[in-house]
Amino acid sequence: VTIPWSISQAEKAGYKHFMLKEINEQPRAISDTVSGNYKLITDGKLDGIDLNKIRRIQIVACGTSYHAGLVGKFYIENFSNIPTEVDYASEYRYRNPVLTEDTLVVSITQSGETADTLAAMRLAKEKGAKVLTVCNVIGSTATREADSVIYTYAGPEISVASTKAFTTQLTVLFMLSLLLGRERGVLDSSEFDRRLKLLMEVPGKIESFLNVEREEEVVKKIALEFYRSKDALYLGRHVNYPIALEGALKLKEISYIHAEGYPAGEMKHGPIALIDENVPSVFVATEGKVLEKIVSNIEEVKARKGKVISVTNPGIKEVYELSDYVINVPEVDEFLSPIVNVVPLQLFAYYIADFLGYDVDQPRNLAKSVTVE
Ligand code: G6P
Repeated sequence: VTIPWSISQAEKAGYKHFMLKEINEQPRAISDTVSGNYKLITDGKLDGIDLNKIRRIQIVACGTSYHAGLVGKFYIENFSNIPTEVDYASEYRYRNPVLTEDTLVVSITQSGETADTLAAMRLAKEKGAKVLTVCNVIGSTATREADSVIYTYAGPEISVASTKAFTTQLTVLFMLSLLLGRERGVLDSSEFDRRLKLLMEVPGKIESFLNVEREEEVVKKIALEFYRSKDALYLGRHVNYPIALEGALKLKEISYIHAEGYPAGEMKHGPIALIDENVPSVFVATEGKVLEKIVSNIEEVKARKGKVISVTNPGIKEVYELSDYVINVPEVDEFLSPIVNVVPLQLFAYYIADFLGYDVDQPRNLAKSVTVE
């Protein structure tokens, strides 16, 4: 008997695609990122950067890493009170950003080789700012050129559509914001410890979502209902508004379905015009300060006969009653919810692309690392 075998199949460890494997690796990747950076964060120092001098932060990144930056702004402003802006690196490099010695530029890049991100870092350095990079690849150009590095410990990411790199970037940004907050006296030590402990619970929650609750089967069934859609809307608010953008990006990248991600409060200023019975709206509607607002946004979509798929927590009755389809994720602290909530959106895009028969790991027109402008 000859058993067909290939290196590529072996590397996929039984999964049909690298993307699915990498989605499932997230609990491990996040744990490794927490333990790999634990000492750095609790010691409260970043090589080459004087934390007490920082008055502003500018985050630069592209693609999925940019979405991590948008969540990072919530973390840094909330926990350390440092004004933070987030820019697309491709825009930043051609505008004239106001940079002073007390500005810290944080670049976020899985590969450490994205041309626009490197150009933004070089511009920041030229103008006298300090540059910290959050990167997944040891020895990459970004890590060599930055003043300081914090690594994500995602391990090699093969699928073009980024998954575990994203959730480990969120993990690092959360830890960084705690470090900054404690060093600057915004968070006391007990709050710092409490938040860090909450972060440590996240891998177990994702593990339970994937392997205990078996919600993946639910996501797959919903994907089967919607894989022929032409458009989709993704809506979220507060820390989960960037997750709506990321969910839409995942769908576009691998299934070639037109998808728009929006902060749900902006719906009434345009995207609501797109809604009819054929356009599904995916809501991120988990526990948090804006849940009630999200519920009214769901009502607005239902009033226009839109189909609603909600990512929510068990027991949120209003969301359950209003939605056509519900995906339950375990409840975690509001600020950590993006790390959990993005997982079903990754799976949703994955199954839609797979049902459509597309090359999930190598989508058309896209590259894993964009090293030219
Ligand atoms: C490419 C990839 C994306 C990635 C982006 C930024 O477009 O396809 O998945 O988010 O580059 O890459 P970086 O390596 O800088 O995070």
